[in-house]
Amino acid sequence: MNVKVTGRVVSMVGKPRVIVIGAGGFGKNHVRVLAELGSLGGVCDVDKERASAYGKLYNVPYYVNVSEIPENTYEGAVVSTPTSTHKEVAMQLALKNVKHLLIEKPFTPTVKDALELISFLKNRNVKIMVGFIERFNPAARMVKRYIEEGALGEVIMASATRVRRWPERIADSGVLLDTAIHDIDLMRYFFSEDPVKVYAKMGKSMHRVHEDYATIVLTFPSGGMAIIKANWLTPYKIRSIEVIGSEGVVEADLVTQQVTLSSKNDRITPFSEWSEPLRYELKHFIECIVNDVNPSPGEEDAVKALKIVEASLKSSVTGNSVDIGT
Ligand SMILES: NC(=O)c1ccc[n+]([C@@H]2O[C@H](COP(=O)([O-])OP(=O)(O)OC[C@H]3O[C@@H](n4cnc5c(N)ncnc54)[C@H](O)[C@@H]3O)[C@@H](O)[C@H]2O)c1
Repeated sequence: MNVKVTGRVVSMVGKPRVIVIGAGGFGKNHVRVLAELGSLGGVCDVDKERASAYGKLYNVPYYVNVSEIPENTYEGAVVSTPTSTHKEVAMQLALKNVKHLLIEKPFTPTVKDALELISFLKNRNVKIMVGFIERFNPAARMVKRYIEEGALGEVIMASATRVRRWPERIADSGVLLDTAIHDIDLMRYFFSEDPVKVYAKMGKSMHRVHEDYATIVLTFPSGGMAIIKANWLTPYKIRSIEVIGSEGVVEADLVTQQVTLSSKNDRITPFSEWSEPLRYELKHFIECIVNDVNPSPGEEDAVKALKIVEASLKSSVTGNSVDIGT
């Protein structure tokens, strides 16, 4: 399917036009939310049926190959194809003069790929966002706010659990790169510093190619510690956070978005209405396009998280803790 579009696509209300590349399991959410925000400009998916279904549903141009996307047409693009294709797809988009890219986590499979991609994109003045969506989860934001306001006192340790039963559908990454990376990023966000050391253990139980369970222990320069547990084995879904400080504890359920703050004499669960993290993430991306500024989380966050992933894999193989390079 080759839909030809000429000229610059700008919406009636002047919102930037964003094209979604890869409208699969997660990309379809980008398509829906961008349409709700009035910024969906097109859809591209190698699956012709999928591309045409979304193109017709939202009345936007659709393409089955990035090479078909006309140059100088889209201000922004979301790359939501399998991780192993992000680098090539993002480079192709830059050559089409797309100046703002939201690249899904984990950005690229390796640090090396990430650095090569960033260098290519920066040489073409492309602004980069990485899809660490949990930073836009209202529950995670509330945790961060409590930490910043000093409600916990000095932060001593944090833990994250992210588990669910997941069939063998992700061919190009294991639980560490695909799933635990969300919490690796969240721990950097909560501690406001980069871990210096990691000790990790992981293994493969039900999945054939990659690890499907992992535990990671991170040490921060301030002395803080984080423990991250992730697996694709538990027959129900948990995504939870706990941060323990000298004066209090905050617990957050990232699924229900319920947050509880406990101190010596008090335990409160403030009411907050559930809202979709992807909406906040894409709003931020659109605002950054409008103002032509660098989004956050950006390329530095992508690389730092990937370095921690690679150090964790090394630790699991050697059985020793590993220093995380800067
Ligand atoms: N932020 C999150 O919470 C979150 C959640 C799930 C997945 N993801 C990430 O999103 C990405 C996609 O994951 P998914 O689960 O949606 O995968 P998926 O396999 O369900 O969907 C990928 C889609 O991309 C299409 N595609 C493949 N190669 C393409 C190409 N070169 N050009 C255009 N289309 C192409 C496929 O046809 C498919 O429709 C991955 O990087 C994954 O890590 C992020």
